[in-house]
Amino acid sequence: MKTLLKNGLVVSGEETRKADVLLEDGKILWVKSEIACDEATVIDMTGKILFPGFIDAHTHFDLEVANTVTADDFETGTRAAIVGGTTLIIDFATQNKGETLKEALANWHKKADDKSSCDYAFHMAISDWNPNVSREIDDMMAAGVTTFKLYMTYPAMILNDGEIYQVLKRLVEVGGIAGVHCENAPLIDALIAEHKAKGNLGPSAHPTSRPDDMEAEAVHRLMVIAKEADSPIIVVHLTNEKALNEIRTARAKGQKVYAETCPQYLLLDDSVYEKPGFEGAKYVCSPPVRKKHDQEVLWKAIVDGEVNTMSTDHCSFTTQQKAMGKDDFTKIPNGMPGVETRGNLIYSEGVAKKRITLETACRVLSENPAKLYGVYPQKGCIAPGSDADITIIDPKKRKVIRASEQLQNVDYAPFEGVELEGCVDQVFLRGQLVVEDGKLLKEKQGQYIHRGKSNL
Ligand code: URP
Ligand code: ZN
Ligand code: ZN
Repeated sequence: MKTLLKNGLVVSGEETRKADVLLEDGKILWVKSEIACDEATVIDMTGKILFPGFIDAHTHFDLEVANTVTADDFETGTRAAIVGGTTLIIDFATQNKGETLKEALANWHKKADDKSSCDYAFHMAISDWNPNVSREIDDMMAAGVTTFKLYMTYPAMILNDGEIYQVLKRLVEVGGIAGVHCENAPLIDALIAEHKAKGNLGPSAHPTSRPDDMEAEAVHRLMVIAKEADSPIIVVHLTNEKALNEIRTARAKGQKVYAETCPQYLLLDDSVYEKPGFEGAKYVCSPPVRKKHDQEVLWKAIVDGEVNTMSTDHCSFTTQQKAMGKDDFTKIPNGMPGVETRGNLIYSEGVAKKRITLETACRVLSENPAKLYGVYPQKGCIAPGSDADITIIDPKKRKVIRASEQLQNVDYAPFEGVELEGCVDQVFLRGQLVVEDGKLLKEKQGQYIHRGKSNL
């Protein structure tokens, strides 16, 4: 069956041009002006913008953490993703201490297989580094899990500097790459103890116990470790200028460093933690959201190509779950929902408000994550031979973000009330129309994507 998308604006990381796109059997057959094809079903795309399906390379679905489980599993999380224009998520399969990587991967397949409404792949978060796990890196690469997450914080998952060095050296051998959560854990623990001693137990103590310097110090340390290991590295969820400066310094020395940020660090500032009552808990994530100045720095870094990808770090908890920390901010489960709104927010707040171009949006939402995470050109571009994953934005459409209307399994929306100027209208997943008029038409069509090596 052939489908012809007529007269749309087709976006790549390089250019935006008016073209027709012909799809057949889940793939893109042709991209050019004035395609004629009698047997195709023709859909008029006049006035609409066609992006390669968005990729969210940072989600946590069905994750047991902080004595609870994230509110979104693969069923609800990927439904929310696809209506938001995301056709591929890369979730963090997470090794519990004492587990093998193979057990963790099998566990994640059980959570995701046959339940996902967009395509999915996995990184592997290593929480327990030992010789057996080192050998299993080969098995992960063979299974299409070519990227790994390491935490410099969180007691359940933290690796020390020596272990991080050993993981990076091992990944160099196989062509894998690690993304690292950078925060200085012992110093944060000391700041938390000070807050507690003073009786500061509410959400406003969260950002001040995890200041930007704690992140910048950890990024600096990571750069030293990666240099010693002669390894490329990804800094995930970058939040602030000081941490970015550490990346700039390492790059200037010739190191290969990639950076990811998320909409909450571009569009929210730390005044959210001063909201009345326990409202601030909704925004408790780590690293915390920062100053307005950091937002401006990060937008510019996206424009300048210093920040390569924009993911969500979707790690959702209901307000009831957040209330686990009502008497002690350190017990508030860390994380925010975002997988449903990322594409719309970045189009509306980024492109429509002229902070970034269509091409830049394409690079950070689709093309760069596809290259960095080893799925390009299967994903990340609208080109002959690629999967027919296409996210169509109607720039004339208006919508207000409302928790009451969202598919993600949370009773609040961090961007409640934001008026969107331009929204995701239709989504094709491997040639199937799965979202129409922003509504889910077909669910559970997602497939596991076996990834290759990073090639950004
Ligand atoms: O607060 C956050 N970001 N929770 C999710 C886990 C992580 O740190 O990525
Ligand atoms: Zn993290
Ligand atoms: Zn995360």
